Amino acid sequence: EMEGAILDSVVPESMGDAPKVKISGIVVDLDEPELPPEIEDAALASGGFPYAKKLKAEEYEEPLVRLQIELLKLQAWAKQSGERIVVVFEGRDSAGKGGVIKRVTEHMNPRSAHVIALGKPSPDEAGQWYFQRYIKHMPTAGDITLFDRSWYNRAVVEPVMGFCTAEQSARFLEEAPRVERLLVDDGVRLFKFFLTIGREMQIKRLHDRRHDPLKRWKLSPIDYAGLSLWEPYSHAIEQMLAATHTAAAPWTVVHANDKRRLRLACIRHLLLHIPYRGRDLKAIGGNDERIVMDAPAFLH
Ligand code: ADP
Ligand code: AMP
Ligand code: MLT
Repeated sequence: EMEGAILDSVVPESMGDAPKVKISGIVVDLDEPELPPEIEDAALASGGFPYAKKLKAEEYEEPLVRLQIELLKLQAWAKQSGERIVVVFEGRDSAGKGGVIKRVTEHMNPRSAHVIALGKPSPDEAGQWYFQRYIKHMPTAGDITLFDRSWYNRAVVEPVMGFCTAEQSARFLEEAPRVERLLVDDGVRLFKFFLTIGREMQIKRLHDRRHDPLKRWKLSPIDYAGLSLWEPYSHAIEQMLAATHTAAAPWTVVHANDKRRLRLACIRHLLLHIPYRGRDLKAIGGNDERIVMDAPAFLH
């Protein structure tokens, strides 16, 4: 009882009741403890996910450890050679960005691996050049910086939620490639992942989040508002990928309905594209082309 009250208090008061969401004729109420079985059943295949089954724990845990060992070699190499690495994670609410970042950094030396998850801009930040508060966190020699959401807020969540104007967002789409080009020309290795999930999967995850005391803090008014904004989000995402996929800073789109496959795929992609010392291609394994693609292939 007491614990419940304390947990409730960490959920923003403005949350209130969950909005009801209608999807293929079914009305879903996230506040209900049980998710309609039709949604549960449709979740994994939603959004064009190609696998019929999730990866088994036995096919995940050992490969993950092998990849994490490679990540440590990568980190040691970056330290030695002074390389700077930036990894951006984008995706709809509940796509699994935080979970990938957690596995990437799990065994790394935290002194040179940084996770940046900025909240909404302060009044001071809102008055600055839009990129300024992100640029501040760019890595020094030897460091790797992972962005859990990024400057791409201005391409998707901000215009969709009305936190910026259409003009500001359009200007961003034109400026982002130029800013990224400067970073890459200066030697920064920049990776941009877009994690894509299906609509039923998102509803399922937000429902899980609503009823799991360990995950409830992740629920935000933006998640609730987003439930009825699936299409506007899709449109903004397509525009973003089309406008900001460049040779210097390409997007890698990963189908994210299966979190285990997602995590292995993102780490593999990094390891396959960074020439660190002692790289063991056998430990890394092949790229999963069924769920990993570049932006043009995804948009096609
Ligand atoms: P997350 O999904 O990252 O846990 P939210 O769903 O609450 O967080 O918010 C999504 C993004 O929108 C976050 O990056 C947050 O900082 C941003 N955001 C929230 N409110 C505002 C606002 N008023 N202006 C600009 N950005 C905002
Ligand atoms: P390899 O050539 O197989 O050793 O892999 C390292 C290569 O990946 C380098 O030649 C880099 O130019 C390339 N690379 C670096 N950053 C990226 C990136 N963000 N996306 C794709 N390839 C990259
Ligand atoms: C995610 O799971 O993608 C992030 O951790 C949080 C979110 O945006 O819902």
